Amino acid sequence: MDTQEIERLKKERNAVILAHYYTDAAVQAMADYVGDSFYLAKVASKTDKDTIVFCGVRFMGESAKILNPSRRVLLPDETADCPMAHMATAEQISRMRAEVPDLAIVCYINSSAYLKSMVDVCVTSSNAVKIVRALPQRNILFIPDENLGHFVAAQVPEKTFYYSGGYCPVHAVLVSSDVLSEKRAHPAAKVLAHPECRAEVLALCDFAGSTAEIISYAEKSSDTEFILATEPGVLYELSRRCAGKRFYPVTPVCMDMKKITPEKVLDCLRGGGFEVKEESTFAAAKKPLERMLELG
Ligand code: 13P
Ligand code: SF4
Repeated sequence: MDTQEIERLKKERNAVILAHYYTDAAVQAMADYVGDSFYLAKVASKTDKDTIVFCGVRFMGESAKILNPSRRVLLPDETADCPMAHMATAEQISRMRAEVPDLAIVCYINSSAYLKSMVDVCVTSSNAVKIVRALPQRNILFIPDENLGHFVAAQVPEKTFYYSGGYCPVHAVLVSSDVLSEKRAHPAAKVLAHPECRAEVLALCDFAGSTAEIISYAEKSSDTEFILATEPGVLYELSRRCAGKRFYPVTPVCMDMKKITPEKVLDCLRGGGFEVKEESTFAAAKKPLERMLELG
């Protein structure tokens, strides 16, 4: 990849490239900002660049456009979507609103703008516990990720949680026996897990957190071997920040994140890509996202 051409095109278009830690190493290497979902949402909400090239799945680009509507947001691949983003329904939300008093509807940022438009607050894996704890309501409907919901519920026992039954296919596929057999192969390794993992996997881990928190934990740790219960895209940043440490990934890759290629990113800078257009749900979806930025 011609880095001089990338820099020239970025300047010409007044563009910034954002990439999630699950994208390919070559894509992360092209980006101006790489991070977890919360960090990237904050960067997107504040950037003064005309164009944001968002290397990630659709809900990330949508959230950037919702938070910073005067910017042009480009997705390198229109079909890169998070399956979990659609794992709740308007019917579930309205039924719970009607039936459960003193209820807050908390929506993981990994969700469509349509779902966000019906909820009280958004969260990411790095701020969910803090935000849910701060809400005045006693009852919580946590959508769409049930595993993250259970992870939060365990740390906020004073509230009652309800779920919509969604899951991340990449993390939820992992079961405790997978981690235990890796542990037998590497007995000294610490287990780092994303809270999208099942409770049986989180029960075996030494640390659970967002991608950025996992990376920072491994960097600061005096341990040198880690079993990685999150998408292996984080290995790129880990290799930059944790020289000499060893990582054993146990989850599959996220095929949607891997749809983003350096060629497609370059195409965005050359005038291609897929622009996120304003939709009727965006105005209502802005409130819960902004509330997340305030509380998170
Ligand atoms: P974080 O990077 O916020 O931990 O999110 C993980 C994820 O699944 C993004 O799709
Ligand atoms: Fe969605 Fe899971 Fe892929 Fe993240 S890793 S984008 S939650 S499918």
